[in-house]
Amino acid sequence: MRVLVTGGAGYVGSVTVERLVAAGHEVTVLDSLVTGHPQAVPHDAELVVGSVGDPSAVVALLLVREIEAVLHCAARSQVAESIRDPALYYHENVVGGMALLEALREAGVRRFVFSSTAAVYGSPTATPIQEDAPLRPINPYGATKLAFEGALPWYAAAYGLRAVVLRYFNVAGASPTRGEDHRPETHLVPNLLNAVQTGRPMTVMGDDYPTRDGTCVRDYIHVEDLADAHLAALEATLAPEPGVEICNLGSGSGFTVGEMLAAVEAATGQPVPHVVGPRRPGDPPVLLAAIDRAAEVLGWSPRRGAWDAMLGSAWAWRQAHPSGYDTLDGLPG
Ligand code: UFG
Repeated sequence: MRVLVTGGAGYVGSVTVERLVAAGHEVTVLDSLVTGHPQAVPHDAELVVGSVGDPSAVVALLLVREIEAVLHCAARSQVAESIRDPALYYHENVVGGMALLEALREAGVRRFVFSSTAAVYGSPTATPIQEDAPLRPINPYGATKLAFEGALPWYAAAYGLRAVVLRYFNVAGASPTRGEDHRPETHLVPNLLNAVQTGRPMTVMGDDYPTRDGTCVRDYIHVEDLADAHLAALEATLAPEPGVEICNLGSGSGFTVGEMLAAVEAATGQPVPHVVGPRRPGDPPVLLAAIDRAAEVLGWSPRRGAWDAMLGSAWAWRQAHPSGYDTLDGLPG
């Protein structure tokens, strides 16, 4: 199929593009490169530098490339930044997202997959979290993703949209050629690896949560498992009837920050220098996914296991690319 992937130069986007290309699909990437890396886009995909918020350019792209389905990964995605600057998040994630939907409508593209987040649930009252759990985001990142999700059932009913919403939990790991390189880096796994690599201590953000060791529990999923789920979701949008399916994507197992730190020490064979700091605003104590809906709707379940495969792959990528994408001119398709 001919697919447009917005945000395809980012971490999840680029590993997904790699998977789509390997499966024989024709991929166009639309990325502003504000946070993405052009080197991360496989040679076999076409990179168009631009914004999803520019409807006339997007309509032209959809029509000229005869795009059949759109995978929307482009977004601002840092919780702390969203609390400092909610206007940026409403502008990019909601206004930009609506402009993209408008372009799809105008170009007659009805197949759509949306990268959403566990942040739409806020602090859950019950875990594992089912897709029909209350939606009460506690930060603007989650609120803006939820606001955009809210438009999709109405667009399905009125305009025939066939959409799949993927609510990611905590993504980690690398493919053999593509990995995680955010500037600045805020995520746990890369920060643990940075500490091992540089000897500079990372901060454990809070050890007074009501969990087994006082640190937050998260559900970590291998980025290549996530890429498989995107392919399955794109295939699911071939369904004859308009509508919206919503699936959590996680591993179904939760680990504390303390357990992740110990696991990184085991995977790297080196100590992780660290200090304990205060809680980070906007962090729920526990996020754990119920993943049976993804199995039912997408025929997908995670295959790569948690610690060894995920942390081992992240460490291997880090060792091969100590300065991330800076040292790379391009990667194999
Ligand atoms: N953490 C640290 N030190 C760090 C980085 C993170 O202790 O240097 C802790 C955080 O406080 C949190 C856990 O590690 O408890 C995971 O943090 P990440 O930043 O890696 O990921 P988040 O849990 O913040 O982010 C995830 C998803 C988002 C989602 C968010 C909901 O990536 O899509 O959960 O809060 F919005």
